[in-house]
Formats: sequence, structure tokens, C-alpha cells
Amino acid sequence: MPKDVMAGDAAALKARFLAVRERSEALAAGLSAEDLCVQTMDDVSPGKWHLAHVTWFWETFLLQPHKVGYAVFDDRFSFLFNSYYEAVGDRHPRPERGFLTRPSLDEVLAYRCYVTAAVAEFLDAADADTLRKVGTVLKTGFAHEEQHQELFLTDIKHVLSRASFPEAAYPAGRHETSPILASAPAPDWVRFKGGLDVFGHASSSFAFDNEGPVHKAWIDPFELATRPVTNAEFLAFIEAGGYREPRYWLAEGWGVICEEGRAAPFYWRKTDGGWMEYTLHGLEPLDPDAPVCHLDYYEASAFADWAGARLPDEREWELAARAYDPARGRWANPDRRLHPMAPDDEGPLLGLFGEVWEWTRSAYTAYPGFKPVEGAIGEYNGKFMCGQYVLRGGSALSPPDHLRATYRNFFPPDAQWQMTGLRLARDV
Ligand code: AVJ
Ligand code: FE
Repeated sequence: MPKDVMAGDAAALKARFLAVRERSEALAAGLSAEDLCVQTMDDVSPGKWHLAHVTWFWETFLLQPHKVGYAVFDDRFSFLFNSYYEAVGDRHPRPERGFLTRPSLDEVLAYRCYVTAAVAEFLDAADADTLRKVGTVLKTGFAHEEQHQELFLTDIKHVLSRASFPEAAYPAGRHETSPILASAPAPDWVRFKGGLDVFGHASSSFAFDNEGPVHKAWIDPFELATRPVTNAEFLAFIEAGGYREPRYWLAEGWGVICEEGRAAPFYWRKTDGGWMEYTLHGLEPLDPDAPVCHLDYYEASAFADWAGARLPDEREWELAARAYDPARGRWANPDRRLHPMAPDDEGPLLGLFGEVWEWTRSAYTAYPGFKPVEGAIGEYNGKFMCGQYVLRGGSALSPPDHLRATYRNFFPPDAQWQMTGLRLARDV
């Protein structure tokens, strides 16, 4: 699949569309209707809901406005599967998505078939003018469904981790299950001289609106760690009493870990046989060389403070990552293992894309001159620019071809269930 499908190339757009749709269904294969229905915490959406919501997105933003004579599959679905678009109407409450025993999984799969066929038919009939008009919506639809593929996996991970008898493994299908037990290189730094530079997405290929506009910013000299922080390094922080020592913590974070009695990352389990980690492939011995994963912002910040370093600024990260290809090696493999591993690339910076999302210290806010697009789809990113932090890079669960150096992921500072880790930075 070409990385950037040219607007105007209907056959390529259709192939890309069908591949994205198929991948979502492949991720659900081997999971039962029960697995796909429950909601194990407010942040988790059921798999069935993800499958339906991305379908509703195609229906709402492409088919209804652009396909002449399109008849919606079921007019009750917009209420159920609209996530947060105020301009589209009232919604089912997010914490109650797990109550949706209806529609059944079979009905949701039928909904998917209906919409997939309608979009394919639309693309078959579309002339160059139509394609130009819907190009952005189409590409946003691909990226949206891909974002939900990662969310589907992080959410089903939480569901399976709470299964009623020993934490279940995800039915991995074609995915490699066994870890490659590579060793992580010793920690080291790469120096950047900074200066006045240009940030944000500049080319004509697709990017989300929050990656622009292109703008200048001044960056002081800084250093970035060659690789993400490992499990062994995080374990050293734990063993040094890191979770009991308030001086490393932001006040808000200290409050959270005290209240929740936290003493380790989200999916770590201490057993008689030592530390284990719950992964989509089941409960495994903690791999000391793999990047530490499932930290929230507070934990990442406390670790950096303990290590005598800090989290990177998002523009430092972007400046450093520009020279690297997000679609190389392991990151391009659609069947790769669904858990981060010690980076296997050439460097000098290692593991930038496709192992763990890296917390930055940058608040998720608008770039200078940012304006959300008109209409409901303008609610996609812009309205969340308050109280969240930017993560850069990508994770082992990110779909192939989804990532780029300008990509701004974001989550609230207490989010632990995503594939989140960190890379250290320091001032020169
Ligand atoms: C960018 C991952 C925070 O989870 O809501 C999905 C992605 N946006 N549908 C999210 C998204 C619209 C978004 N994150
Ligand atoms: Fe969505």
C-alpha cells in the first residue's frame, strides 16, 4: 500500500479503505461476543462499540453528506455510536457503553458490511471532482479507524486482564507471540544544538489538524536519551523507594498514587517467581530490556526526576525524530508482537516509533494560528486541548503506516491503560 494515496486515484483509495476495514475485523476474530461487549472501566470502550463507532463515522461524515440517496442502516445507531460530536446530536453515556447488549455483535457486523459496501460503491462511481471534495474526509476516516484499532487493542487488553479466571491471552491470530529477548544498549545521550526551527506537518500528505499549522519556535540545546526507559531501569526506581518518596512527584500525581496505593506500573504483577507483566500474549516474566509501558504522566515525570533528567518538550522530540523512518523494520510488520521489545534499529536514536508512546512535558494545546475546521468534524481534536499531555512516537499496537514525526497523541495525565512509556531528556 502506498504511504500517501493521491486524491483522484479511486482504485487506490478503495483498496486502502477495504484494507483498513478488514484489519478491524481481523483484530476482533477469535474474540467472543461476551469479550466484545463488556466495559471494565469508564475509559474502556467495548470492542463491539469500537467496531460500530468507526462505521458510524463513515456513515456520518462520508455517506450521508456525499452519497446521493444513501439510506442509513438504522437511525437509532447515531445515538449509540456517536462518541462526542455535539453538533451531530445526543449520545449514549460513555461509561454505559458496556450496557449495550443490543445491537448484537452479529447486527454490528452486518452494519459494518452494509457501510463497507456503500463506501466501496461510492468510490467506484466517484469522478475526480467528487474525490477531490471528499479526499480529506476519506483520509481522516482511514486514520480514525486506525486510531480505534489501537484503542480496540488497549481496551480488550484491559478486558482480558480482568477475565474471571487467570488473565486471558488475546487470540493473536497471525501476530508473533514470543518475545525476541534482545538486550537494550546501555543508556546514552544524543546532543542537539537546537536554534530557531520549523515545527508541524508541512507536506501535502495526510495529517490531523492538530499537527498544524507549521510554525517557528526556538529550541535551546538539549540531549535526548538514545532509547526509551527500560523495565529494569523502572524497577530500580521502585526498589529505590520511588513510589514512597514524595519529592520526586508532582503534587497531583502524589495524591493519585497515595489514594490508589500504587507501587508499580499498571500491568505489573509481583509473584513468588518474581515480577511478571500482563501482556496481550498473557502473563509473562517481566523483560528487563523492554521499554517500560503503561506509565501515566505522573509516573513518567517522577521517574525522570529521580533519574536527574526531565521529560522532553514535544518540539524537541519532533526535531530529533524527523530524520527517522516510522515505517521501517519491525514497525512496518503488520504481524508483529503486540508488546514493546528492546529496539532493533540502527540509531543513534532507537525505538522512536512503534514500541511505546513517549510522554512529553508539553501540554496538549493549539499551535499558533490553529483553527479547527468548520462543522462537526472540527470537534475531532481541537476541543480536547485542555488538561491533557502530548505523547510522541507510537506503540507496538499502532497500525503500520499510521505514524509520523509530527503526530500528536494526547491523554490525560492519569491515563495508564494506553501503551505509554518515556524517553529521558536533559538540558545541556
Ligand atoms: C488521539 C487517541 C486521544 O482516544 O479519543 C478516536 C483518538 N479521536 N476518535 C481518542 C480518537 C476520535 C483519540 N486519541
Ligand atoms: Fe472516534
